[in-house]
Amino acid sequence: MKRTKIIDIFNPGLIGREVCVKGWVRTRRGNKNVQFVALNDGSTIKNIQIVFDMEQFSDEQLKPITTGASIHVEGLLVESMGKGQTCEIQAKTLEIYGTADPETYPLQKKGHTFEFLREKAHLRPRTNTFGAVFRIRHNMAIAIHQFFHEHGFFYFHTPIITASDCEGAGQMFQVTTKNLYDLKKDENGSIIYDDDFFGKQASLTVSGQLEGELAATALGSIYTFGPTFRAENSNTPRHLAEFWMIEPEVAFADLNDLMDLEEEFIKYCIRWALDNCKDDLEFLNNMIDKGLIERLNNVIGTDFVRLPYTEGIRILEEAVAGGHKFEFPVYWGCDLASEHERYLVEEHFRKPVIMTDYPKEIKAFYMKQNDDGKTVQGTDVLFPQIGEIIGGSVREENYDKLMTRIEELNIPMKDMWWYLDTRRFGTVPHAGFGLGFERLLLFVTGMTNIRDVIPFPRTPNNAEF
Ligand code: 4AD
Ligand code: MG
Repeated sequence: MKRTKIIDIFNPGLIGREVCVKGWVRTRRGNKNVQFVALNDGSTIKNIQIVFDMEQFSDEQLKPITTGASIHVEGLLVESMGKGQTCEIQAKTLEIYGTADPETYPLQKKGHTFEFLREKAHLRPRTNTFGAVFRIRHNMAIAIHQFFHEHGFFYFHTPIITASDCEGAGQMFQVTTKNLYDLKKDENGSIIYDDDFFGKQASLTVSGQLEGELAATALGSIYTFGPTFRAENSNTPRHLAEFWMIEPEVAFADLNDLMDLEEEFIKYCIRWALDNCKDDLEFLNNMIDKGLIERLNNVIGTDFVRLPYTEGIRILEEAVAGGHKFEFPVYWGCDLASEHERYLVEEHFRKPVIMTDYPKEIKAFYMKQNDDGKTVQGTDVLFPQIGEIIGGSVREENYDKLMTRIEELNIPMKDMWWYLDTRRFGTVPHAGFGLGFERLLLFVTGMTNIRDVIPFPRTPNNAEF
């Protein structure tokens, strides 16, 4: 008989039919007359209850059905008398695919801590919480492609191996086929890369933006969606060494267009989650974070604050003057710490903030310079609980201004002639941003550690699985 996924079993039209289900056992309970098994196959957070009439099955047959075992059951789907479920299956046949020894299978019924489950990342997708999180992760990826497709953006693939450091922050993982035990060096002690695989020093990308700009200045509106890598040694609940980033880039867009896009895009994704991930969100709302669904609804129903950096600093300085204690000092020119961002979003405005016009010293070389000579048209979108969820900017499209900034910052541009060509031939105003996929997922799921919204997190000292 053809298998029915458990998500489809709850379709009322199937009551009274013979069905076949396959999945992993969550629990078994009962007595000598009747046994109940809760079965899950990952298609939904919901379990189907299987009822074994012990006149038709022996104790011996059911004994191996412990938590984690995988089984195949055929039987009659009937309405359920029990509370908490609409239907159940009266088992007629049982096949056991694989047992799960209760002495050694780590996921027993009782609630495990997320720390414990991180050590069991190979099995944690079988728990309710991680099943929900990873189904939502899938749905958010679909939402993102759908949004851009509907808005006329082309999905553009940028390279993962690159020779340029987009953010100029020097946080790149090197890619080499060189023998690390026998490195050739020049007279200054610098490694010679001529004989390396790419004939030059290469790394994993920190961002697809620079190549994205090439595409936007040809196709008009594009986006990338792929893995990015940062070798920053920050062991925080919001940083990964390998994370996924969505980077739209738009020709002929200015600062207001950019902020409109950021806000519309993020609201679209959140609305998509509310519309398409109802069961999983309700589960997370009940079990993990009671304020989750309300927070998601609040964000889509509110206008984001648009706040120049200088004004933000003034508000923070006032807070300090009024007795608020921050760990890090606040002054014009400082890079905002997460505590500052969260004060603005969670205490002062109580809604998302798009901060703009940052001092050029704390932002990347490519940001469009304002006439004041001090600030650039960068935007960070700051979210409750998360802090920075998006970083973006209008790009400096003027060749001379861009070159001056590159020289001031001593950025080695000899390998970036191709990037500068966008400013030499038919340059146009353009803008774009990067959304950290896992930061969006933190917000949408209510999870608090970024290691718990990506299947196999990569962080300092951790590349297991
Ligand atoms: O602010 P960032 O560094 O901006 C860029 O990379 C630009 N080139 C994007 C662009 O304009 N096309 O990173 C963008 C976003 C951050 O706002 C954050 O959400 C996420 O990427 N992010 C990280 N997420 C997880 N772990 C990390 N280590 C992250 N670093 C950045
Ligand atoms: Mg940033």
